[in-house]
Amino acid sequence: MAAESVLNLAGLTRRFVSGGETIRVLDGLDLEVSAGERVAIMGASGSGKSTLLHLAAGMDRPDEGRVVVVGHDMAETPEPRRTRLRAAAIGLVFQDFNLIDSLTVAENIELPMWLNRRPIDDEATHRLTRELGIDGLLERLPGELSGGEQQRVAIARALIHEPRLLLADEPTGALDQVTAAGVLDLFDQVTAGRDCALVMVTHNPDAARICDRTLWLQQGRLEAG
Ligand SMILES: Nc1ncnc2c1ncn2[C@@H]1O[C@H](COP(=O)(O)OP(=O)(O)O)[C@@H](O)[C@H]1O
Ligand SMILES: [Mg+2]
Repeated sequence: MAAESVLNLAGLTRRFVSGGETIRVLDGLDLEVSAGERVAIMGASGSGKSTLLHLAAGMDRPDEGRVVVVGHDMAETPEPRRTRLRAAAIGLVFQDFNLIDSLTVAENIELPMWLNRRPIDDEATHRLTRELGIDGLLERLPGELSGGEQQRVAIARALIHEPRLLLADEPTGALDQVTAAGVLDLFDQVTAGRDCALVMVTHNPDAARICDRTLWLQQGRLEAG
């Protein structure tokens, strides 16, 4: 039996109009990601990597094509089911961490549980934060942490609700080389220990080390590296 698909992008096209001109950022792009698989996506700045992740996360809608997340066609799933499905199935990590400054580390990490209307499980939070080496920081505010620590918190927040798919947009882009290497190792460790697939947009050549495949975004499509 073929491995279960957690993300299927088919014929994805996204156009933007800029200065009266239409640019086809994505142009019939296909991507299939199986359960637990890890995919690195590389490409020049402006090639459409973030656009691709936004579409996969359902934060944007394609002009053409299909986005299927754990077997559900997002375009054919009506709201509010689509939002619930996305919140349950996907975890997101961004370059600039996107933590909420006025909430503690623990509160930031537990946000997806609130969004998914699931009970807060302190023991689960502790297990995860121990694994990420941030269990001593739970009562701090994000502004009191280093960049590497903030990204660890963001990874914990992305995993607390046990998503099938982790999407990361240049997660090491704001970190120095040594800290970035540590964060890559964490992605390796946390996805390998769970049934969680990873799609990571990155400029970091080391990312290939922890991924099963590296794809290049060029002229609106993905090609094998
Ligand atoms: N909302 C938008 N409106 C207009 N143009 C956009 C929008 N989002 C992205 N673009 C354009 O699409 C192209 C790809 O952007 P992006 O996906 O952010 O690239 P990358 O993440 O690979 O650097 C860029 O030319 C960008 O200016
Ligand atoms: Mg980008």
